[in-house]
Amino acid sequence: MNAPFNANANAVAGPSRLPRKSARPFVSSDNRPTEADGVFRVVLITSGSVASIRAPDIAAALSQSGDIAVQVVSTKSSTHFCNQTNVDEAVKRSFSFNGTDQIPKDFGVRVWTDEDEWSDWKKVGEPILHIELRRWADLVVVAPCSANTLAKIAGGLCDNLATSLLRALSPETPVILCPAMNTHMYQHKFTAKHLRIVQEELEYLILGPQGGGKLACGDEGPGKMTDWREIVYTIENFAAMHKSKVAQQKAEKDLTLNNRQNHSLSTNGPHSEYTPPSEQSIDPCPFGRSPTPPTPNRSQPDLPTIDSINISSAEAKPSDGKSGSCTPSDNKYRTMDARTASLEHWKSMQNETFWKSKWWAGM
Ligand SMILES: Cc1cc2nc3c(=O)[nH]c(=O)nc-3n(C[C@H](O)[C@H](O)[C@H](O)COP(=O)(O)O)c2cc1C
Repeated sequence: MNAPFNANANAVAGPSRLPRKSARPFVSSDNRPTEADGVFRVVLITSGSVASIRAPDIAAALSQSGDIAVQVVSTKSSTHFCNQTNVDEAVKRSFSFNGTDQIPKDFGVRVWTDEDEWSDWKKVGEPILHIELRRWADLVVVAPCSANTLAKIAGGLCDNLATSLLRALSPETPVILCPAMNTHMYQHKFTAKHLRIVQEELEYLILGPQGGGKLACGDEGPGKMTDWREIVYTIENFAAMHKSKVAQQKAEKDLTLNNRQNHSLSTNGPHSEYTPPSEQSIDPCPFGRSPTPPTPNRSQPDLPTIDSINISSAEAKPSDGKSGSCTPSDNKYRTMDARTASLEHWKSMQNETFWKSKWWAGM
């Protein structure tokens, strides 16, 4: 996909904007305004699994969206598979620059490492990288999550940038964890125990691993990281849901403001007709965003895309009234209004009830 080239692009992200590496030392408030700006901010943590070779693809695909900003945090082991150079190359490739394009110096997605945590901090009062990153994040994704990092998270250890960030994270910030490990590591009793802790106690969303297939080490069986395109798809869904929630909050805020103004006019100023909140018009579909652009290289027809949900259909009710698991390609969605369709889709996903109710729907 050829993105429009805009050398004056905003330093964070946004429609038609280029991804830009944040300045160092990293300060959250320099990179996220106090008011919602339509940008969804994702920290992608990579740990020492060979599946880290997919992280540049994930970062590049997300950067294409224009309204998703990404920072990558890599553990020391992970840098054997994914580093700043790999991410730079993937992001550049995804924007199809030709030789004559003038690429801004700071174009790309920053990869942060343990060294940055300490080299960017000199004295008390200066920004601390893992704290600034957790302030910045709307979502944290651990992909891949090694057995070691999983064990550390479950045990509360925080001896590097990635685990310190996770330990310092607000419980309001959702986390997606994508395990990737050898089959025996995955089937080890500790793995089940650790996954249960992060799922039930920390309320992380566990995505994968794949149930079978040939692993990089030659073994066959479960343990392979979920397809990176599916990870991108899930993040895009979080971004869409976030947008919906922000729109809803804005509508509620505007409504309160209107009510206050109307109230003060009716009591102090010239007479004006007061409309009770329940009768005021609120956009019934805060999900009215433009369709998510296709993820580059996502060609498999069996992978879901958010566009296959008929988000523009009228306010029809589910025709069958049945509950249960469904996929975005199910016709069932086509009979629902946008909001119901998106919530139904969340419900069909593993562990969804936790994060829908806790983070997005506010129930
Ligand atoms: C080539 C290679 C591939 C590895 N792949 C995995 C893997 O897929 N999953 C895993 O849990 N550990 C894997 N390991 C082991 C981890 O890198 C090791 O446990 C490391 O301590 C993880 O550190 P981290 O969790 O801080 O990144 C691999 C090691 C090597 C040398």
